[in-house]
Amino acid sequence: MDVRAVVLAAGKGTRMRSARPKVLHRVHGLPLLEYPLRALAGAGVSRVAVVTGHEAEAVERSFAGRGFTFVRQDPPRGTGHAVMVAREAIAGADTVLVVNGDLPLLRAESLRALLARRAAGDAAALLSVTLPDAGAYGRVVRGADGGVARIVEARDASPEERAIGEINVGVYAFAADALERALATLRPQNAQGEYYLTDVVAAIAAGGGRVSAVAAADADEGRGVNTVAELAAATALRRAARLHGLMEAGVAIEDPASTWVSEDAVVAADAVLRPFTVIDGASRVEAGAVLGPFVRLESASVGAGATVLDHCLLRECQVEQGATIGPFAHLRPETVIEPGAKVGNFVELKKTRLGAGAKAPHLTYLGDAVIGPKANIGAGTITCNYDGHAKHPTAIGAGAFVGSNSTLVAPVTIADGAYVGAGSVITKDVPADALAVSRPSQVVKEGWARRRRESRGKH
Ligand code: UD1
Ligand code: CA
Repeated sequence: MDVRAVVLAAGKGTRMRSARPKVLHRVHGLPLLEYPLRALAGAGVSRVAVVTGHEAEAVERSFAGRGFTFVRQDPPRGTGHAVMVAREAIAGADTVLVVNGDLPLLRAESLRALLARRAAGDAAALLSVTLPDAGAYGRVVRGADGGVARIVEARDASPEERAIGEINVGVYAFAADALERALATLRPQNAQGEYYLTDVVAAIAAGGGRVSAVAAADADEGRGVNTVAELAAATALRRAARLHGLMEAGVAIEDPASTWVSEDAVVAADAVLRPFTVIDGASRVEAGAVLGPFVRLESASVGAGATVLDHCLLRECQVEQGATIGPFAHLRPETVIEPGAKVGNFVELKKTRLGAGAKAPHLTYLGDAVIGPKANIGAGTITCNYDGHAKHPTAIGAGAFVGSNSTLVAPVTIADGAYVGAGSVITKDVPADALAVSRPSQVVKEGWARRRRESRGKH
């Protein structure tokens, strides 16, 4: 069966009351449109046309480079019109899946169930759920034979039809030829003056094609997002499902109520997520790592047995096994903390490699630096990596010792085993095993303080 999909993403999403197109609003960290696209991929459907219209460029940019075909619908004149403009993209298919772009809880299994109905000979199959209060959804009207006779939109429904609890989710599998013929019959004669895709169902049924409704495995799959509140409700469901899955797999989540783990993060069994831990983006957390409380990762990785203590932010960086971070550390992009290294409180690292077993325990900024294994970076050490125009590197060798409150003016190298005296401003390279001290030498004036006190007492 040659299956192609059309995903509808051209609508403005008026009820969001936002300048941003609805399908780019985020549900649990990902754009709304990502979810139906992932469901299609999960069902093995790879030829996907996305219909864009409102803010089309922004939508296309967000999903570029992934093999989708974009079709412009300008202006959007209804869901039926959206499929009409995608005709070329689906030409030659046997079966066309049409999926509303605003379904954040849709599952691949449901798409497969619709394709199975098509394989069994139905001219069309649509996904439905039954709700206690069907609200603004389109209602599934069944004929005498139990098959689907038509879909009626809530605003066009009679009171009897409005009482129907079975709703149209907005996911359909059509025989391509039946769809093609039915689209030609659509007229915008309804409450919204739009071409309704849902009218295709009645046309196919009236022409003798069998139309079935497949109940979704989970009623939440029917949640189409139209408002900001529905967006938040979908996020809550996605988030709960995600945390539940991780706990089932052995991740120790101490407080699910305050923990977030993105859809794309990978967290191993026996990782410990303490309260208020937020793992965003494509982060990785290995077994035995302990994070939190109050830690955020943004596409960062934390190795086995590493510890990230309270109030740390780790962005696009890598913490290797057994390292210790925080409390109150900020690790910025391209930072690598090698095994067993330690980053302490009020330390910021940017584009810096801290060697195995090295330590930067307190109050330090290290930027564009490479620090060898077992080096010790004293409290208050600052790399001056920026001269107002360009960034410059600092190299600190294995086992080097940088005394507290030192200023390293880059580009500069402190070679293996060298010492820097506390409070130094280092502007020249320090050879291996040398001591560099650069500060005014100390002056001691014997009895000065006593003389001062005594002279004051006279007046
Ligand atoms: C639609 C269905 C309704 C169903 C509901 C499920 C129609 C006529 N009605 O209603 O039966 O219960 O979804 O959530 O289809 N879109 C376009 N171009 C357009 C209009 C819409 O691409 O011209 C896209 C939107 O971006 C959105 C999807 O189609 O992703 C659904 O549109 P929306 O306006 O939300 O449809 P509903 O009124 O909710
Ligand atoms: Ca909708």
